[in-house]
Amino acid sequence: MNGIISMAYLFAAVMFILSLGGLSSHETARRGNIYGMVGMAVAVIATIAGINAGAYWLIAIAMGVGALIGILLARRVAMTQMPEMVALLHSFVGLAAVLIGWGGYLDQSKMLVGAAHVVHNSEIYLGIFIGAITLTGSLVAFGKLKGFISGKPLTLPARHWLNLAAVVATIVLAVRFIPADLSNTTLIDLSIMTAIALLLGIHLIAAIGGADMPVVISMLNSYSGWAAAATGFMLGNDLLIVTGALVGSSGAILSYIMCRGMNRSFVSVILGGFGSDGSVVAAGEVEGEAVATSFDELAADLDVADSVIIVPGFGMAVAHAQQAVSDLATKLVKAGKTVRFGIHPVAGRLPGHMNVLLAEASVPYDIVLEMDEINEDFSATDLVLVIGANDTVNPDAVEKPGSPIAGMPVLEVWKAGRVVVLKRSMASGYAGVANPLFYKENTRMLFGDAKESLQSVLGKLSAA
Ligand code: TAP
Repeated sequence: MNGIISMAYLFAAVMFILSLGGLSSHETARRGNIYGMVGMAVAVIATIAGINAGAYWLIAIAMGVGALIGILLARRVAMTQMPEMVALLHSFVGLAAVLIGWGGYLDQSKMLVGAAHVVHNSEIYLGIFIGAITLTGSLVAFGKLKGFISGKPLTLPARHWLNLAAVVATIVLAVRFIPADLSNTTLIDLSIMTAIALLLGIHLIAAIGGADMPVVISMLNSYSGWAAAATGFMLGNDLLIVTGALVGSSGAILSYIMCRGMNRSFVSVILGGFGSDGSVVAAGEVEGEAVATSFDELAADLDVADSVIIVPGFGMAVAHAQQAVSDLATKLVKAGKTVRFGIHPVAGRLPGHMNVLLAEASVPYDIVLEMDEINEDFSATDLVLVIGANDTVNPDAVEKPGSPIAGMPVLEVWKAGRVVVLKRSMASGYAGVANPLFYKENTRMLFGDAKESLQSVLGKLSAA
């Protein structure tokens, strides 16, 4: 039996690796999801088959309830709410790691001695520590994204000292706890460490705000992976170790890619204190006057343009405008125009957010280009349509060294002959900074909901 279970675990681990490989591109993402589902199904069956649980019906009930909640949540969640859903799921992983860690500590049946005891206690300690930070950190992130807690960084005075004190206390307690046997003292030490880690999770994530939140979600994703790997060591479950390490490292790589996309250092994101809740209208910071355009005018601009680049952002997701965008692109292509999409690596709220929406609306993959592939081409383009994007097209990032987003690579749309920005107002984007693009001579603002605006323009196009 053990041989079959090991084979099943190996098969599941390979499926998970293939799944991650598949998810790295939109053409293969569906296949990647299927690999992941098959791997997880095999892993769950093999794990249940390997334990002498006796009361299998209890496991069946727990799985049934969990599956039902999962299905209901997944069916109802909108793409724009994905980050908070992911945050909530991470908190479950953290909670599981804490409970399993405590279970492992209180379970005296192992009777380990010497080095094996030290290793076992280290695994318990680490699993609970990372799990507790992940649990409360993810709940705070969920609250911020849902709007239950302010999206602004909530910082205590001397917060770095508080963090340092928490880390030092955790190390001191570890030195006492790890070599010791089960006793009232270790019980107290582990309880204090758990409380510190729970508070540290709240404190660390509360200090992070605005545009850094998605990075935090992916960082918590990474933590939840490492918590699962520590739990895998504790339970002696190889698949959990492999899966945890895969989640931990891919989350870390994703956080790194996002930080690079925003030109933020990973350490400064973790230490927090930057950003706003995105509702700030940074008026008065930019000189000049924004010029509004109309549906007729934009339709006329599109009719005469030979080359068009469409740059979508978070507002396209909010407006559910992807189908209208796709219809517009199809119509323009039929009229013989060169139409391409330019996607910023952090457009929207999750990596790949825009690609998923455009794929959903059947936009062909070959006209959807990444920022690096298209940035050179703006100067040779007649018209750029910026649809609900803001920070990702802000010239200050490259032109104003003192700007909060200075150094962030952006789509240099202002180099095109004409730029039309579709958004509802002059409000700033997620980073809460003003955008001089709106005031440039060659820019026109089309105010209104992106989907409604596009539908009106579509009706007025003479291109067929
Ligand atoms: P944002 O800068 O957030 O701007 C979105 C714009 O969409 C807003 O200015 C808003 O203006 C407009 N909008 C909202 N609803 C709309 C609607 N119904 N119709 C038309 N427009 C609408 O978007 P972005 O350019 O995609 O940038 C993403 C931001 O998220 C960046 O700051 C980035 O650093 C941050 N971020 C993203 C990620 C990932 S991985 N995607 C990770 C970390 C951080 P109005 O309110 O005036 O309409």
